[in-house]
Amino acid sequence: MDAPRPGTLLLTARDITAHYEEDGQILQALDNINLTLEDGEFVALIGPSGCGKSTLLDIVSGLYPQSGGDIIIDGEVLTLSQRLGHAAYMRQRDLLMPWRTALDNACLALEAHGLPKKQARQIARERFPEFGLSGFEDAYPAQLSGGMRQRIAFLRTVLTERRLLLLDEPFGALDALNRVALQTWLLSLWERERQGVVLVTHDVDEAIFLADQVAVLSSRPGHVVHVEHIDLPRPRTRQMVTSEAFLGHRAVLLEGLGLLEVDVVPV
Ligand SMILES: Nc1ncnc2c1ncn2[C@@H]1O[C@H](COP(=O)(O)OP(=O)(O)OP(=O)(O)O)[C@@H](O)[C@H]1O
Ligand SMILES: [Mg+2]
Repeated sequence: MDAPRPGTLLLTARDITAHYEEDGQILQALDNINLTLEDGEFVALIGPSGCGKSTLLDIVSGLYPQSGGDIIIDGEVLTLSQRLGHAAYMRQRDLLMPWRTALDNACLALEAHGLPKKQARQIARERFPEFGLSGFEDAYPAQLSGGMRQRIAFLRTVLTERRLLLLDEPFGALDALNRVALQTWLLSLWERERQGVVLVTHDVDEAIFLADQVAVLSSRPGHVVHVEHIDLPRPRTRQMVTSEAFLGHRAVLLEGLGLLEVDVVPV
């Protein structure tokens, strides 16, 4: 992968709107989204279910057309088909194929990019230890834990070595302990490669712990209601989650999400 170029704009979403049409009904998913990401920067997107987070990543990756606005990558406005292949994208329901081994699942994206199977397998195999997957190359998904499956899906995504990484709730299906372990592990990988990352999450603490900026989206049609710049030093440590700075960011973000105004019904 090319070296990171800090300070260079990697991605700009400019005035992005999006619609779906179903049974003759038009549904607006996104409303005038503006977002920028520098190379090597980590941005988290949070917002209520259905506000268009996955739609935005589909648009950036070239899988779904916006109905207005521009996606600018490396300084160029790119059409839908030009965007395809620019980003490494781990979709929300990025399931492993049950009939393929861990190794063969990991090399899927490389094969899809035209690499011969033997070479793809060799590249994937070399990365297994670093992903904590040594010895599980020939296991089938059903024989692996949820955390291991997520790491294989993640390995498959990063093997394509793109400067732009789009992650849609990569740890969504995991319990709290596994989630924290994988967050720390993701950070250590990212500290080394320093891609530009857009990560979607429902978890405010995860967003603060990982990101340089957290963008809060409104409910549908999603638009950016707040961008919080996280000023915690790097590398991040778990101890930081109880720091005053962390709690301050959390209060602002929860307020942005409207959660502080939700009445708690006493039980
Ligand atoms: N293929 C589709 N056809 C029709 N409507 C769709 C389609 N995909 C998404 N939508 C609708 O667009 C809106 C935004 O969906 P999207 O999946 O982007 O939300 P999200 O923020 O990722 O939600 P979640 O947090 O639950 O994953 C939702 O109302 C959804 O029902
Ligand atoms: Mg989604």
